[in-house]
This record gives sequence, structure tokens and C-alpha cells, in this order.
Amino acid sequence: MLTSLAQAVYLGAAILFILSLAGLSKQETARRGNLAGMVGMALALAATVALALERSERPVEVTAVLILVVFLVGSTVGTWQARRVEMTQMPELIAILHSFVGLAAVLVGYNSFLTEPADPAHLVEVFLGVLIGAVTFTGSIVAFLKLSTRISSAPLMLPGRNWLNLGMVVVSGGLMVWFLGTGAVLPLLLMTVVALLLGWHLVASIGGGDMPVVVSMLNSYSGWAAAAAGFMLSNDLLIVTGALVGSSGAILSYLMCTAMNRSFISVILGGYGAEGGTVVASDVDLGEFHEIKAPEAAELLTEARTVIITPGYGMAVAKAQYPVAELVAKLRARGIEVRFGVHPVAGRLPGHMNVLLAEARVPYDIVLEMDEINGDLAETDVVLVIGANDTVNPAALDDPSSPIAGMPVLEVWKAARVIVFKRSMATGYAGVQNPLFFRDNTSMLFGDAKDQVEHIMLAL
Ligand code: TAP
Repeated sequence: MLTSLAQAVYLGAAILFILSLAGLSKQETARRGNLAGMVGMALALAATVALALERSERPVEVTAVLILVVFLVGSTVGTWQARRVEMTQMPELIAILHSFVGLAAVLVGYNSFLTEPADPAHLVEVFLGVLIGAVTFTGSIVAFLKLSTRISSAPLMLPGRNWLNLGMVVVSGGLMVWFLGTGAVLPLLLMTVVALLLGWHLVASIGGGDMPVVVSMLNSYSGWAAAAAGFMLSNDLLIVTGALVGSSGAILSYLMCTAMNRSFISVILGGYGAEGGTVVASDVDLGEFHEIKAPEAAELLTEARTVIITPGYGMAVAKAQYPVAELVAKLRARGIEVRFGVHPVAGRLPGHMNVLLAEARVPYDIVLEMDEINGDLAETDVVLVIGANDTVNPAALDDPSSPIAGMPVLEVWKAARVIVFKRSMATGYAGVQNPLFFRDNTSMLFGDAKDQVEHIMLAL
């Protein structure tokens, strides 16, 4: 009775997860999508706990206390982290959460190996679950370390790195044959070590510019790891949810690769076939840059008929979206056409800029995607580049040796005037200098983006 009720609840939760994903695909419905996900997860947890209590081999009170303890630890850590994390640190948080999913799959795999009868199908589940889990675990830790700048975001270029990856896959295949043939724990342990190294090496080999794709790819891996854990635990909902996360992460990775003009296969194979690219040394002479102050910028804006704002990571750091939204309202009230051009990987996570602009109540209809706005930049009087750098770098199109060569960019330099808001001449995330800053029609407005936008408003 309880089992069939739990299955029905699982089905309801699975439908809510699908509705959640559908809702999250549009800003207008994202809140509803989140709500559906939360209700689905609460239902799933309740049904799982009820089943665990019913099937408990220990006294039911002991199981209940154990569940309560892990529940309290998990929810305390989760709530504390979620409240503390800045929007700009979201990708790091996601990366470290993926590593937990990977580790969980490894632990479930070993647990299931030690406690369940060793039939061949079960051994395959255990082996694959531990393999995917271990790759996800160390890969996500490296992604976390890179995103939080605890280690350099430059790709680790070991000689013969593609052969190394291939070698580790072949060795894992051999260990699988050994494991299925004997059911011994040694090949499982050896494969775990190889898979941990493989995850580490795969992500360490990927350069800063491709990190967004790596995060969504690890999202996909963590989904498959969860699905594998679902098979081992015979939990249908975990299989469905894992497959949803796994496939949506894979679709997102593919879309982001297309947006960045990167080969999907090359990125998931740890930068397979990619040449390192030469980082433009900061002492390469790109000419002189011109500086501008807020009052002059305000003057340029009042004389303009059309303005496009291209925000980037720096707008998030400065929390400049609120004064930017006010500035936009002010300019629009004067009859100036103002629109936003959002690059698909501006910021540090997909949709980062859209979320910030929505938070500041910028109307959705003036927030356009890169492809929608690139054609209009040549007819624009003033472009405000607010804390963006790599996403407006002309070297991506002009310089085949640049690490970001081939990545589509917002072609802001085509506008009559460009004002770049940043604090220094420092490089962006990919670590490459930006020739845009040295163009004749570009002026640098140095300082914190929020302060500078506020100064412009005062001048207006
Ligand atoms: P970036 O290239 O990272 O440049 C951000 C710029 O903001 C920097 O040049 C920085 O210059 C400036 N800045 C920082 N704090 C500021 C502040 N308080 N006030 C004013 N300016 C400030 O940003 P982007 O153009 O948005 O490009 C995103 C990059 O991140 C891409 O390389 C992308 O591949 C990568 N990435 C994206 C994602 C996703 S999914 N979107 C995930 C991970 C990585 P100063 O230090 O001189 O101020």
C-alpha cells in the first residue's frame, strides 16, 4: 500500500520537475518553475523517507534519527551557503554541489556493491555509477577551484594529454572486464583512482574561456551520476530526475558551444585538438587609450538618439544594475532609444545578466540577445560597455591566435562612440587584452561601475 502510494507521489514529483524545467526556460515563468521544483522535491523527500522507514531493517526509531541527523546537517549547510553566496559566486556554488552529487554516486556504488547480491547487471550499474561519480567529483572540484580563482584558469597542457585521457578510458574498460569477470573489489578500487585522475585532468585541461560550457557539462555528468545511483537504489524518481538533469545539461552545453563557436566534442574531451592559443602579453603595444569623465559621458548620452548597453561580469560585481535601470528610465523619458545587448556568456553563468536586469525591473522587451542586436550596433550613437570585456573583444574576430578566436562577440566598436566602464586596464576572465579599449572611438570611464553610473545621473 505504502509502496504504491510512494510510486504515485514519485510520478507527481517527476511531472513537477518537468514543469519546473519548462518554467525556468523563460524569465516570466521562472518563479513558478522554481516553485514547482521545490514542491516536487518536498514530495519526493517525504515519499523517500516514508519508504526508508517502512523498509528499515533496524528499529524504525534508529532509522528515523539517522535520517533526521543527515537532514539537519544537509539543510543547515545548504541554507547557510545559499544565503551567503553572492550572485557572482553562483557558478562556484553549483560546481561544488555537483561534486557532492559525484561523491554521493561513488558512495552509493560502494555501498550497493558491499550489500547487494553480485549479479552481472548489478555489477555493471555499480561500475558505471562509481566511474561517472568519480569523474564528476574531481572534475567539479577543479571547476570550483578555477571559478573561485583559487587556481589559475589557464589550461593545463600536459604533453600527449589526449592520449592520457584515451589511455585512462581504455584502462577503465579493461578494469570493467576484470570486475565483471571476478566481482572482486580490487578492479573497482583501481578504476576509482583512474576515474578521479581522469575527472581532474579533463577539467584542468580546459581554458578559462570554455569554463561556462564545462560547468553545464558537469551539470550533465552529475545528472547521469544521479541516474546511475537511482539504478543501484532501484529508485525510479532518481533515475527520471537524473536523466532530466543529464539531458538538459547536455542540451545546454551544446547550445553554449554553438553560441561560443566551440566544438562540443573538443570541449567535453578536455579541449581535444585545441591549440593552447597565445595569451596576448599585457606589454604588447596596442597604442594609446582615451579617458573620459562622467560629466562628459552624460553629455554624449544627452546628444544621442540611440544607446545600447552591453553589460558584463563587472556590472554584477559592482551591483550596478539598479542605477543602470534608473539611468535607462531617465534617458527613455527624454525620448532616447535605449536597449540592452546581452552576450550568451556574459557574466559567470548562463542568463546571469538577464537575471540581474530583471531584478532591477528593466522591461524585458528592451533586453535583446547578441544575435538580435549585433546588426544594429553600426547605427548606434553611443554604446555603454558596463563591466564587460571578453564578450566585446574584437580580437575574437580579428586575431586567429587569440585564445578566444572564433567566439562570437558583440561588435560594439561599430557604433559611433563607445564608453567602457571598468576600474583599470586589467584583462577579463579569459586573461587577454582587449584592443577595443585602444580604438579612436572608445573612451575609458575608470572607476566602480555603480559609482560612475550614479555620477552620470547627477550630471544629467
Ligand atoms: P569579463 O571578461 O570577465 O570582464 C569583466 C570586466 O569587469 C573586467 O574587465 C573588470 O575590469 C570589470 N569589472 C570588475 N569589477 C568591476 C566594477 N566593480 N566596476 C566596473 N568594472 C568592473 O566579463 P564578460 O565580458 O561578462 O565576459 C564573461 C567571461 O566569463 C567570458 O570569458 C566567459 O567565457 C567567462 N565565463 C562565463 C560564464 C557564463 S556561463 N556566463 C561562466 C564562467 C566564465 P577591472 O578589473 O579593470 O574593473
